[in-house]
Amino acid sequence: MLSPEVVAYYEHGFEQDRLSARTGRLEFARTWELLQRFLPAPPSTVVDVGSGPGAYAVPLALAGHTVHVVDAMPLHVEQCRRAAEAAGAGLGSATVGDARTLDLPTGSADAVLLLGPLYHLLEAAERLAALAEARRVLRPGGVLCAASISRFASMIEGLHRGWAGEHPEIVESGLHTGTHRNPGGLPDWFTSAHFARPEELAAEVAAAGFAEVEVLAIEGPGTLVDDVDAWLDDPRRRDWLLRQLRRTETEPSILGMSSHALAVGRAN
Ligand SMILES: C[S@@+](CC[C@H](N)C(=O)[O-])C[C@H]1O[C@@H](n2cnc3c(N)ncnc32)[C@H](O)[C@@H]1O
Repeated sequence: MLSPEVVAYYEHGFEQDRLSARTGRLEFARTWELLQRFLPAPPSTVVDVGSGPGAYAVPLALAGHTVHVVDAMPLHVEQCRRAAEAAGAGLGSATVGDARTLDLPTGSADAVLLLGPLYHLLEAAERLAALAEARRVLRPGGVLCAASISRFASMIEGLHRGWAGEHPEIVESGLHTGTHRNPGGLPDWFTSAHFARPEELAAEVAAAGFAEVEVLAIEGPGTLVDDVDAWLDDPRRRDWLLRQLRRTETEPSILGMSSHALAVGRAN
């Protein structure tokens, strides 16, 4: 299901806390805001494919949705189960599985999240298979929210934060080919992933048969904020930052600078 290097990377356990500090906090705040905007009001049935340890699944369950969690990493499914239990949030189900072949009935979901699997599927045909499977599971009119990592993320972040110079060959080959590789398995350098142009994400979601496709920047220029915690901890600065990111979230000229983008589409 997952290639050995991807399994080895996630076995480090970094995913558990990734969204609770620094740029991850901004990624979470913006993704949560977009989910609240695009998902149907609770109660609805949401399938979180590639849930990781449950950063979104748990609050969605607490908000009143029936959340079915599927992830290819047994560790993440277990962490998600435990997080839900600790929060007192009942999950609809939590299973180890592959985004390309979901063990869920056709037309059974109001929303499907693919916040992770698309960028770990390196071939376009594999990403299309995952998107087609999401479409199968959605009821007509159901909503897809699918995330990508920007083709330019490691160049922009690497130049801004200064680490591009440590392994310029990794940054350059991802930028050139759209496939990020970390041959030495360096813990801070992520793992095999597809880095997409925003227009490529839109085209793939549309090619899978989704209508009303929109692509929005998740962090947008916020990718360049250094002291994210200070911005998010101060209510006035947080409000200002999130307002500017909202204002610029669909600007085509800066979409690619956002480390992550979210595609939203409707099944028909
Ligand atoms: C970077 S994590 C994202 C977790 C969470 N959704 C988030 O947005 O923070 C990517 C997740 O996708 C899962 N994943 C990758 N490929 C998958 C596939 N083909 N099917 C199911 N899950 C997959 C990984 O195991 C991992 O938990």
